[in-house]
Amino acid sequence: MIFSALASVDADPTLAHRERMGFNSQWFFQKGDPVGNTNQLSYYNNPAVREAVLASATPEGLNPEQKKLGAETAFTQPGFDDSSWRKLSLPHDWAIEGPFDIKLPGETGKLPYAGIGWYRKHFTIPASDSGKQIYLDMDGAMSYAMVWCNGQFVGGWPYGYNSFRFDLTLFLKVGGENTLAIRLDNPEQSSRWYPGAGIYRNVWLVKNDPIHVAHWGTYLTTPEVSEGSAKVALKVSLENHSAKDASVTVKTELQRDGQGVGTIDGGAVTVPAKGNAISNGTATVANPKLWNVETPELYTAITTVSQDGKVVDRYETPFGIRTIQFTPDNGFLLNGKRIQLKGVCNHHDLGALGAAFNLRAAERQLQKLKEMGFNALRTSHNMPAPELLDLCDRMGILVMDESFDCWKKGKKGGDYHNLWDDWHEKDLRAEYRRDRNHPSIIFWSIGNEVIELRDAINGPAIAAELTKIASEEDPTRPTVLGSNAGDASYNGIQKAVGVMGQNYERGGYEKFRVENPDKPLVGSETSSAVSSRGEYFFDTPEEFEARYAEQVATAQAKGKPAPPKPVFSPVSEDKNSGKANFQVSSFDLYGPGWAWVPDKEFASLEQNPHVAGEFVWTGFDYLGEPTPYNGDREILNNFRNDPVLRAQAEKELKELGKIQTPSRSSYFGIIDLAGFKKDRFYLYQAHWRPDFPMAHILPHWNWPDRIGQVTPVHVYTSGDEAELFLNGKSLGRKKKGPTDYRLRWDDVVYQPGELKVIAYKDGKEWAQDVVKTTGFPAKLLIQPDRSEITADGKDLGFVTVTVADKNGLQVPRSKNLIRFEISGPGEIVAVDNGDATSLESFQAKQIKAYNGLALVIVKTKAGETGAITIKAKSDKLGEASTTITGR
Ligand code: GAL
Repeated sequence: MIFSALASVDADPTLAHRERMGFNSQWFFQKGDPVGNTNQLSYYNNPAVREAVLASATPEGLNPEQKKLGAETAFTQPGFDDSSWRKLSLPHDWAIEGPFDIKLPGETGKLPYAGIGWYRKHFTIPASDSGKQIYLDMDGAMSYAMVWCNGQFVGGWPYGYNSFRFDLTLFLKVGGENTLAIRLDNPEQSSRWYPGAGIYRNVWLVKNDPIHVAHWGTYLTTPEVSEGSAKVALKVSLENHSAKDASVTVKTELQRDGQGVGTIDGGAVTVPAKGNAISNGTATVANPKLWNVETPELYTAITTVSQDGKVVDRYETPFGIRTIQFTPDNGFLLNGKRIQLKGVCNHHDLGALGAAFNLRAAERQLQKLKEMGFNALRTSHNMPAPELLDLCDRMGILVMDESFDCWKKGKKGGDYHNLWDDWHEKDLRAEYRRDRNHPSIIFWSIGNEVIELRDAINGPAIAAELTKIASEEDPTRPTVLGSNAGDASYNGIQKAVGVMGQNYERGGYEKFRVENPDKPLVGSETSSAVSSRGEYFFDTPEEFEARYAEQVATAQAKGKPAPPKPVFSPVSEDKNSGKANFQVSSFDLYGPGWAWVPDKEFASLEQNPHVAGEFVWTGFDYLGEPTPYNGDREILNNFRNDPVLRAQAEKELKELGKIQTPSRSSYFGIIDLAGFKKDRFYLYQAHWRPDFPMAHILPHWNWPDRIGQVTPVHVYTSGDEAELFLNGKSLGRKKKGPTDYRLRWDDVVYQPGELKVIAYKDGKEWAQDVVKTTGFPAKLLIQPDRSEITADGKDLGFVTVTVADKNGLQVPRSKNLIRFEISGPGEIVAVDNGDATSLESFQAKQIKAYNGLALVIVKTKAGETGAITIKAKSDKLGEASTTITGR
């Protein structure tokens, strides 16, 4: 079970007219519809349900008949006895609890996300709330959410990634007990990756006076920015739920670090009874501190709405002052200066926590990526948790906020195309209204690799429609889309977006510029290299080519057609058993057919400075899509080199109709699912942080079966030259050529001992790295990421356990089983090891190390402070313990 959430109730008394309470605790949960009611409330099977949900998203709302929807379903009713249901806190992802099922397709993460889940909550609304407007704000629920309050249907929102609000005022018993019931329903075949299942983001209860700032009701822009001053423009949307017209005054104080820096006079506004009004105003901030990636300076706009001299609402809008511009010939400019987008794409899951949003887990991901030198994030392929954008604002990360993986034509049977006609406009407007004040967001991606890219009629028409919606909601940012269709850059669709995004088109950057001289371009998805942390297979490209040439020659000699060229290096390093270990080499020299190694993308971008930069697929490994063990065709291709595996796969395909592999998470990440760095991390760091002295050697140096054999060594360094030594003997000094991003010693003859590299920059010593042959596993080392965590039951400690030899060196390939114990006021939340093929439960209290490392995630018991001791034990390796203090 996963519990995580954000800090909650606003305690500031000046905010008394607006209360925003965390509504995450004390929910009851059960999977499945009540017996006899199965699927009666299914949005996609029952037109009356669809109509009612759609009505709930209109200003007119539900008719009296529609409020009765679901009345005959026991779980919606306040009197239903849910005491036997499981009690839990949100955010919650029921599917991450497993169990893993090897029979499920790889894209699901082998986790049972499809199906129905119900949540119920009982709560009191005090009599003192009489006259208040009370709203339920849900940041995201996977998926097809439908909400009942005290047995009456309130409304629904199908898209699992979007945030939405329901007005509960007319449904609630003020001064009494209330019951909420929420039904979620994940269709089969509704995602190409693991979507999660459940109320996986935060839920809030918001209480307002009848006259208040609307939901996501401020829109703040900075239309003029110079070093000396900035103009800040603010539009405030107001709602009046009372029966009388209201005259209010609107005033906004702009603050930085709690100090006033300007005031926006929003003037006097009449908000009609049961109606809306808008207040506009501007102010000038002198000597603004500009938001940028190095110093992400933030301001707050505090809007006060007053009626008859009394404050009726106070609303805060965090913002930044910066300018953005995409240019066709010089990439992206932030505050007038070119900034190369060194971006990654990430899916929304947080590894062993599943989709359940956790602020610390998200922050940890971004911190690791920043250490690598990244500065941009693509929220592939959907709108993220709102707190992720807050983190990006605070950490100086540029964001491509993405909406869809498909438009009118789906990629899978249960995809968003089923919702397109009814929902795409509502979904887009909600996303833009929620997110448009974030300084971190620099463009809106309206889609990823949508099928219509290849349709020269409908593609441009839909792109134009979505761009129009975006510019109505936010004219300050361009739209972009991720295109994998060569034609789309020329068939007119490129004209319908502000910036063209190409996925894996590095060969076409120059052509694009020539044919679209006015259109900015970005590498919206690049590289897609695959690797497993700590696995190495020793094909040099020459060997690889030679083996393929041999296969072609053999085929030709037999008069057979040449076999297609394999796209991967051999999958198995276990030559003795001949069994695949379903891992992929970490030399990062090969990838799937559409992919490029990172080095090639670096070169293309350097040769094409008109391109704004790249978004690598992906920063972190994610659940689902375990290419090259994803689809049957892919796997067969991959096993082409290995007759034993190929025969086994073909047999499975014949008998079962599919090939069964254990892989449940991706190999694309630069960082593995547990958050451990793969070698590729250092390839990016070397290129993205040229001023940070570093050198990194791969592979590890434990190859008892390779003594005397050629064993290539690669070095990633931010230097320009390096000398490699084996047991003190120089193996030569090598210099990077103009498009070299790694140094290679392909002819090293393996002897155990010590590999050392000394890197140079401009002729001066710059950095060193050492890799040593280790002894056998002898002990465990344990290291928490932080020695103190907040004792709120939400903050997390990430504790790494290393299998070490007697000298304390991490033992490569060690897979010892590690058991965890915890004492003091703490709990184990999840375990992981970053092995894409592990089907061990994330909820277990033990896990095998994968290539020397294991992770345990802990938290405090809510509200209990004090020292938590985490112990790791393993047979023959003894135990190691560490302490984290909850404060
Ligand atoms: C892209 C796609 C991503 C992911 C990736 C794997 O084409 O947009 O979602 O599937 O391929 O390389």
